[in-house]
Amino acid sequence: MTHDGLHVAIIMDGNGRWATRRGLPRAAGHRAGVASIRRIVDRALDHGIARLTLYAFSSDNWRRPTAEVQGIFWLLRAFLRLETNRLRQRGVRLQAIGRRDRLAPVVGDAIEKAELLTAAGDCLDLCVAIDYSSRETIARAAARMALSADETMCQPVLSQRLMGDNSDVDLLIRTGGEKRLSDFLLWESAYAELYFTDCMWPDFDEAEFDAALEEFYSRDRRFGGLSVTARCSSIDAFDRCP
Ligand code: IPE
Ligand code: IPE
Ligand code: MG
Repeated sequence: MTHDGLHVAIIMDGNGRWATRRGLPRAAGHRAGVASIRRIVDRALDHGIARLTLYAFSSDNWRRPTAEVQGIFWLLRAFLRLETNRLRQRGVRLQAIGRRDRLAPVVGDAIEKAELLTAAGDCLDLCVAIDYSSRETIARAAARMALSADETMCQPVLSQRLMGDNSDVDLLIRTGGEKRLSDFLLWESAYAELYFTDCMWPDFDEAEFDAALEEFYSRDRRFGGLSVTARCSSIDAFDRCP
């Protein structure tokens, strides 16, 4: 199986419920979720996946209790402190998307440092969405375009503004049982294959990831066109038309 240029994006949901079901505080679920991140990044590397985008904190997650939000950012900093070297050694290039201006300076600095240290990585682009809102990202790109006199307001230009060298999502996985996008990569997922699983993020392991990939490869991606077999019969039918 070849994964050439594949972009996988994951909505890592279900940490809180995973913990609550075990009689643990929600923070324990977030902590267990970090172990899943480590596993899935390693698996993505093993598979030669080109880009992995992980939804770590949405702009709407600021609505949560301060203690939970602080706990999530504490874990993010710990992850960056402990993992950056290993990521660099394995050829991972880490980048964050989302707003930086509302992050505590220590968090912003930790992200910047990890981005700098891993900048030469050429095996896997690991993109972490933090304080991220897809609708806000699209609105900002459109606003910048509207201000720029020499740009025509058209789809390819907005796409370039929005995505830069980022690629369309091929496979979008959401754990935790919900079947929604929660403002994640709306533009980039226009033709993504959607994969929803009831598995909570802390339980999402290599086998679950492989199952999602297997399902992805069994899908027929048509991008508005026709599958190979349908194309042949369509051409045949036209040939036989009087
Ligand atoms: C996802 O898990 C992690 C973040 C949103 C940061 P949740 O915390 O949303 O877990 P559930 O959905 O409440 O179980
Ligand atoms: C989406 O999960 C955000 C992340 C996984 C970071 P949420 O738990 O915040 O989404 P909703 O509220 O169920 O839509
Ligand atoms: Mg959730």
